[in-house]
Amino acid sequence: MCGIVGYIGSKKVYPILIKGLKRLEYRGYDSAGVAMISDSGDLNVYKAKGKVDNLTEYCNDKDVSGCVGIAHTRWATHGEPSARNAHPHYSSTHNLAIIHNGIIENYADIKTQLQAKGVEFKSDTDTEVLVQLMEYIMVKKNLALLEAVQVALHQVIGAYAIAIIDKRDPRQIIAARKQSPLVVGIGTDEFFLGSDASPIIDYTDKVVYLEDGNIAVIRLGEELKVISILGEEQELKVKTVDINLGQIEKGGYEHFMLKEIFEQPECLMNCMRGRINVEGNHVTLSAMIDYRQQLLGAKRIVIVACGTSWHAGLIGKQLFENLCRIPCEVEYASEFRYRNPVVTKDDVVIAISQSGETADTLAAIQLAKEQGAFIFGICNAIGSSIPRATDTGTYIHVGPEIGVASTKAFTGQVTVLSMLALCLAAERKTISEDLYGQMVKELTQIPDKMEQALKTNEQIEHLAPIFTYAKNCLYLGRGYNFPLALEGALKLKEISYIHAEGYPAAEMKHGPIALIDSEMPVFVIATRDRLYEKVISNIQEVRARGGRVTALVTEGDTQIQKFADHIITLPDTLECFQPLIASIPLQLLAYHIAVCKGKDVDRPRNLAKSVTVE
Ligand code: M6R
Repeated sequence: MCGIVGYIGSKKVYPILIKGLKRLEYRGYDSAGVAMISDSGDLNVYKAKGKVDNLTEYCNDKDVSGCVGIAHTRWATHGEPSARNAHPHYSSTHNLAIIHNGIIENYADIKTQLQAKGVEFKSDTDTEVLVQLMEYIMVKKNLALLEAVQVALHQVIGAYAIAIIDKRDPRQIIAARKQSPLVVGIGTDEFFLGSDASPIIDYTDKVVYLEDGNIAVIRLGEELKVISILGEEQELKVKTVDINLGQIEKGGYEHFMLKEIFEQPECLMNCMRGRINVEGNHVTLSAMIDYRQQLLGAKRIVIVACGTSWHAGLIGKQLFENLCRIPCEVEYASEFRYRNPVVTKDDVVIAISQSGETADTLAAIQLAKEQGAFIFGICNAIGSSIPRATDTGTYIHVGPEIGVASTKAFTGQVTVLSMLALCLAAERKTISEDLYGQMVKELTQIPDKMEQALKTNEQIEHLAPIFTYAKNCLYLGRGYNFPLALEGALKLKEISYIHAEGYPAAEMKHGPIALIDSEMPVFVIATRDRLYEKVISNIQEVRARGGRVTALVTEGDTQIQKFADHIITLPDTLECFQPLIASIPLQLLAYHIAVCKGKDVDRPRNLAKSVTVE
């Protein structure tokens, strides 16, 4: 949810922190702050409500000297977004400053105990409780910061990635993680911290992904040391990151979201590279080779995910059931983890997550693991928590997704689900060799067809202003296109703040039809497939009530234009891959409508890219 940056070395810390915060702003942006130990030894904390630019403006006339510091961009959980609640938080003596991503669940109890001992609090946050507790322990038990951190972390329940500095010891940063991501970058005589590697990659490609329950002791002039909360030294697993700067910059597009929509053909080629052979007639996933028995032994597949990833899961369900004849259930991870679901060792649980950090999905994995299921992850962020928590999996390899609204990750997830279903179907012999070959071939054609679909951009840009007046919109689809209707509606509401619902087209007459009038735009995915004629009837039902229909149709379609106000024409493909093509105009529609309404497309209000709290 929140973004964490840190630096210690010989460079000026302030520009490094600010640049890092800008990279991490996608994680939260209701306030931001920095804490730096100045050249004269003061611990300066500066904070501002809103985006990082507000912080830099605030810092214009401040002392930003120093070579050690921590910084934070916030997505509020405890306490309203304000400078007072922004991180870093000082301890009472102003000797310590802390930043935190996560939630301390028992903060209220600890706060009451500390208040009873005379500690005064300046904010409403759970984070300030942590730093006050650490300072209290240091003083009361006469401990060094590291030991006080260990004792304090024993007392807290919840999730955290934290970094703390002490003005009396400017050569050290202490950092720790539990259920929230934290990466330490190792340079030459300098160290970096980040919630992910993006604030680090300008300076070094050597990183350590901290494991749950570990503390990093970062001391200038010494090797990085990682210990457990109990103080046991941990093996240092240094990895090389492989992200280039171009991947996380806008590359000439006005917004990351537009760039990411347009990148999709290339992303899907990367996703399929090395998995589909050059002849384009065979697909292999390494997980399928290494864990063949476990995957083929699945009596049932359970997909757990949230948001857009859950929508991809709904498409996966149809693929697994239609192609592999394996029963499949798709669960909201947040519901699954708190039900008492029946999970057995014959189940394969597929966890889908772009960020690989979604707290509910991680908890669902844990629960399924405890009950003996085999866990397969479909993630984008390399080295994130979910791939590390699963038995095996497949990365979607679409590159960093910065726009909060997920676009290329969705099509990457559907592509991996398609490849996995094809592998399983071939092994289980539930589809003919001919059909298998035809489907693999068609999958390799999708990037080209997406290029064609992207040509609708100009048409959609012209259409968009018509819809800015709308208060509500309806998205309809059937079969494989029903999850896409849900996804189209989610995209619109996330970034334009127009209320939108996705519905199975035939279900509309069981309720939502009451809402239809000339003020209600209805977007129908009406591509040519088994249910085409039925969808036409659904369109007529809308028209008969004065509804205004925009239909996504397959090239060569001559029927639907008679009933629709607007048609958007897409290249033909197999029914199961249609969502890959039809997602493009839906993403573009949401994007252009939001731009017309003057909304902050990449960083919509109240949202965060990585939802690391439940
Ligand atoms: O990182 P994840 O895929 O686990 O995230 C799940 C959802 O939070 C995410 O898909 C969210 O719905 C997006 N903002 C949708 O655009």
